[in-house]
Amino acid sequence: MAFIHRRPSWAISEALATPEHIFLNRRSILAGMGLGLAAAALPRSARAEEADPTADLYPAKPNAAYKLDRPLTPEEINANYNNFYEYGTYKEIAASAQMLKTRPWEVQIGGLVDKPMTLAIDDLIRKFPLETRLYRHRCVEAWSMTIPWSGFPLKALVAMASPKADAKFIRFETFLDPVMAPGQNDFVYPWPYVEGVTIEEAALDLPFLVTGAYDKPLAKQFGAPLRLALPWKYGFKSIKSIRKIDFVAEQPVGLWEAIQPSEYGFWANVNPEVPHPRWSQAKERVLATGELVPTQLFNGYAAEVGQLYAGKDPAKLYM
Ligand code: MTE
Repeated sequence: MAFIHRRPSWAISEALATPEHIFLNRRSILAGMGLGLAAAALPRSARAEEADPTADLYPAKPNAAYKLDRPLTPEEINANYNNFYEYGTYKEIAASAQMLKTRPWEVQIGGLVDKPMTLAIDDLIRKFPLETRLYRHRCVEAWSMTIPWSGFPLKALVAMASPKADAKFIRFETFLDPVMAPGQNDFVYPWPYVEGVTIEEAALDLPFLVTGAYDKPLAKQFGAPLRLALPWKYGFKSIKSIRKIDFVAEQPVGLWEAIQPSEYGFWANVNPEVPHPRWSQAKERVLATGELVPTQLFNGYAAEVGQLYAGKDPAKLYM
């Protein structure tokens, strides 16, 4: 994989890495408290969290409807085992993902809607009451984790945008910036990362727009400042670091489907009985414990989503 050698973001001074007003404001508060030196000794990640303009929204109220049948994956394991190809094709991308600059960040909502809009991420996040849901996550590579996501249901954003009758799908797009994300210099991949759902899927309660995890704003490696969670589908559908949300008439083609349509399709619903062309999907390796457990149809969410796929070609639903 081609990487450009540049100074990592954690090596630049705090004054450059932080918007000036936040930097100055925090410095004066800390100085007033006599904490300047102690703060300088904090790891950069802790200081970045402190600066997040939405930090006051966490912890978000738990939604008791979304429980788990297994323990939560510890944060330090989840936060150091990620798929985020913009930062490398391996799992240990947490350090390089700190190059992701999440402010300023605008999300463009458009296409076939009555109310197209472009919102600063902090305004978007504050439009909806945040809640915390415990979700399973099953990667197509046959590993799984559990995670406390915070955010708001996708259907609330759909209602705000007010789609027109001919909007049949929602297409999500990640940022495109090969300087901020060296992985985007790898021309094997048709950047930016794209994913999509149908309007019917988006109307369910389960699709979740994630703004936080583990009771704080989303860490960069999880796809800050806004990602999707579609827990009944293979993990590649849960697109990270969303910049653009378009309501469209045509079925979107995701990044993985564009590269290898025989292995990764649009629907990508979890099904233990349909193997990936190169491996079985019958079991999954649970992160942290390493235990091999049976995979469940729709990743255990059949009651929530199963009825949606009646009458559709089953062969396509699980590709
Ligand atoms: N989104 C973007 N933009 N880039 C990616 O490489 N990887 C996907 C998905 N969303 C990916 C992405 C895959 S394959 C998985 S399994 C999940 O993110 C991983 O999410 P996690 O790192 O929070 O576990």
